[in-house]
Amino acid sequence: MRNIAIAIDGPAAAGKSTIAKKVAKHFNFVYIDTGAMYRAFTWYVIKKGVDPKNEKAANALIPEVKIKLTNDHKVFVNDIDVSKEIREPEVSGNVSFIASYPKIRIFLTEQQRELANETSVVMDGRDIGTFVLPNADVKIFQTASVAIRAKRRYLENEAKGIKTTLAEIEKELAMRDHIDSTRAMAPLRQAEDAIAVDTDYLTIDQVVEVIVNIVNNKLGVK
Ligand code: DC
Repeated sequence: MRNIAIAIDGPAAAGKSTIAKKVAKHFNFVYIDTGAMYRAFTWYVIKKGVDPKNEKAANALIPEVKIKLTNDHKVFVNDIDVSKEIREPEVSGNVSFIASYPKIRIFLTEQQRELANETSVVMDGRDIGTFVLPNADVKIFQTASVAIRAKRRYLENEAKGIKTTLAEIEKELAMRDHIDSTRAMAPLRQAEDAIAVDTDYLTIDQVVEVIVNIVNNKLGVK
């Protein structure tokens, strides 16, 4: 059977990774978290003492960065497990700068396309349907209001022991959405052939069900 690609894009903290993991499990596809790759690169920039706002200096690190995503959703940079560190506020607050640099986007996009070539994937991000995999079999644009996204992220952080306030999260999400959707290269936007799923009033299981049905319809599964 040929490889299938399901693209799930949308703004920060819209619950894409939670949903994408479950959809991938349902179809027995590999889940690829492209945001984790931008976060991993950002973690490395900060660790090297480089200012994330310095595009030239960040680009210069490209040859040193080897990112690996494992099947159990761990993220490694040069064999260091950074799964927890990449969710810390310092990384979240700087990742949009790193993700706006074309050289770094090309470096990570190439790896994302290779992964989708190897196997069937559910890939989540901002530009999967518009740029990384324009021929994806199914494209979903998953959204939720800022207030709901902030509340969900707050509870998630609390469970992980990451200390933040609701107001800080709302501010960061709004800033990230702005930078992500106004950058020059592959900005966050809904692909013309993507189906929008608003998750404000849906439970996780309901969103999964909606997306599984969309995929089955598109693939002609009865
Ligand atoms: O999904 P996330 O919050 O983990 O993503 C972190 C950042 O990475 C997000 O602010 C924008 C960027 N990103 C991107 O530009 N393109 C992607 N395909 C995925 C994430």
